[in-house]
Amino acid sequence: MQLHDASVLVAGASGGLGAPICRQLAGAGARLTLLARTEVRLGAMAAELGTDAVVFAGDIRSSEDCGAAVAAAVDAHGRLDAVVAATGVVAFGSVVDLDDAVLDELITTNLVGPLRLARAAIPHLPDGGCIVNISAVVAENPVAGMGAYSASKAALTSLDVSLGRELRRQRITVLDVRPPHTETGLADRPIAGEAPKLPQGLDPAAVAARIVEAMAAGERDLPSSAFSAD
Ligand SMILES: NC(=O)c1ccc[n+]([C@@H]2O[C@H](COP(=O)([O-])OP(=O)(O)OC[C@H]3O[C@@H](n4cnc5c(N)ncnc54)[C@H](OP(=O)(O)O)[C@@H]3O)[C@@H](O)[C@H]2O)c1
Repeated sequence: MQLHDASVLVAGASGGLGAPICRQLAGAGARLTLLARTEVRLGAMAAELGTDAVVFAGDIRSSEDCGAAVAAAVDAHGRLDAVVAATGVVAFGSVVDLDDAVLDELITTNLVGPLRLARAAIPHLPDGGCIVNISAVVAENPVAGMGAYSASKAALTSLDVSLGRELRRQRITVLDVRPPHTETGLADRPIAGEAPKLPQGLDPAAVAARIVEAMAAGERDLPSSAFSAD
């Protein structure tokens, strides 16, 4: 897709991956709508970008908020060409100890939210439009101690394949991204449990650059191997 002048809604725009994705998109000339729950962090991001980025404080788990964020993007920029779901939460611990509230938050944030945002966006996306969902390497290699997170990501990847097939005739691309561990700090703020000692992760700016490159090129799949250093 042509990123220059494209209207792109980025959910999780204030996050460790969402922020560098916004910087790269803005650098390519895209016109952004920034979605996350904490307005003050979105405002700081918009100020840093220094463009005509629009801020919408809302929760991706809410159908109403997803619809309103899409409407804000269309109102502000006259169209919507792409949505990026860079939202997400993580939890650590065994399945037997998994609390119901934690399970619900993982599934609604990591799977249901991106589905609701895509569903709200699809009627507005043009031929050549794009939906980007950030899954994770654990969709390919589920790990012990991250059962529900791994399952939420595998389900998101499955959704992306189905959605991509549904939207192929409309020539809307669905890009499923499965990055390896990346140094965003996500593992240090789990909604439950504690991260095991992890090896050094990838540079968020490099991961974001590969994602934005894939959007521009119309790629549909960025497996974990797409992010290897060599
Ligand atoms: N970091 C990694 O190692 C890694 C590896 C593979 C995949 N991923 C995936 O990449 C995505 C981004 O991760 P990250 O590392 O950038 O995390 P992050 O730094 O914690 O950023 C998460 C972003 O999502 C927003 N957010 C969280 N819950 C939300 C909700 N319910 N509604 C709206 N916005 C919400 C946060 O802002 P508010 O809290 O203000 O809402 C923040 O902007 C996640 O799906 C994650 O699973 C990360």
